[in-house]
Amino acid sequence: MDRKRDSNRFGSMAKANLTMPHYLITGAGGMLAHAFRTDPDFADHVALSHSQLDITDGRACHDALRRHKPAVVLNCAAFTDVTAAQQDPREAYRVNADGPRNLADACRAAGCRLVHFSTDYVFPGTHGGYRETDPTLPVNRYGASKLEGEELVRGLLPGALIVRVSWLFGPGGHNFVSAVGSWLLERDEVRIVDDQFGKVTYTRDVAQAVLGLLRREAAGVFHYANAGRCSRFEFTVEMARLLSEKHMVARVSPTSADAFPDPTPRPTDSSMSTHKYERFTGSPSPSWQNALQRYLKTGALPLNPTRLL
Ligand SMILES: NC(=O)c1ccc[n+]([C@@H]2O[C@H](COP(=O)([O-])OP(=O)(O)OC[C@H]3O[C@@H](n4cnc5c(N)ncnc54)[C@H](OP(=O)(O)O)[C@@H]3O)[C@@H](O)[C@H]2O)c1
Repeated sequence: MDRKRDSNRFGSMAKANLTMPHYLITGAGGMLAHAFRTDPDFADHVALSHSQLDITDGRACHDALRRHKPAVVLNCAAFTDVTAAQQDPREAYRVNADGPRNLADACRAAGCRLVHFSTDYVFPGTHGGYRETDPTLPVNRYGASKLEGEELVRGLLPGALIVRVSWLFGPGGHNFVSAVGSWLLERDEVRIVDDQFGKVTYTRDVAQAVLGLLRREAAGVFHYANAGRCSRFEFTVEMARLLSEKHMVARVSPTSADAFPDPTPRPTDSSMSTHKYERFTGSPSPSWQNALQRYLKTGALPLNPTRLL
């Protein structure tokens, strides 16, 4: 169990009662959880990994909240393998729908707040620019299981905060950005699709966005992503440009999604509007180029010493 305290923001509360963390983080071994666990603003937390709290176990959720008495639960637990969800939808629904329902139920009983994370994959992804009020229509079972999770949470706990993010990347996890980064540093050529569009979301920016929303008592659905829509190809070209300042990088060539036949349907453009978040908090989200630069500076990408310039 990973437990930390921030003596600045929560010092007096921590001294008053050492058994009450402000935040309880589920799915603590995952990529988004890593951002909350390492952000000083969330230092007063208890972080429970999958083996410490299985959110599909309703009783365990109630017990965890009774034991730790958090003010806010950050549900970072999810079944995120989109291909596996298509093949095993029952397990995807168990984790992505029944799990959040269990947590909402436990939060209601304990009187604590719930922040739940969802995805751009709740949208059909035909045109992009999706707003919170736009109709949902997932094209695959992962998206459908996440949508059901949202609906169950909303039904049980209308005050819950549901944050939809897209193309998540950050330290402590395997993702599109870390995969492409490794290819750029190891291969001679990288072929990347130029006909799939979205918005990337840096996990560290999500943590700060959630803080801003919680401070303003936000409830309901909010979209959050870094500013600027891009294709996977455009993103890779920018990443190659940044890496090429110090490394030999692969040549980047555009290709079509048709070149990589995939039995799991995926949206073509699921980019989401973040206007609601920006209006509500008064904070513009940083651009994806800025987020990528900050990510590369963390050293999260394993650099190849034989390719240093
Ligand atoms: N990654 C993306 O590109 C992306 C895009 C849009 C939205 N999102 C959403 O953002 C959130 C965070 O995603 P992420 O990328 O950080 O996911 P992640 O890295 O896959 O982490 C998910 C964590 O949940 C844990 N978990 C799985 N089943 C569980 C269960 N039954 N009980 C408790 N923990 C369980 C996993 O543990 P094990 O590995 O041990 O099973 C893992 O540590 C999710 O809600 C996801 O749907 C992600």
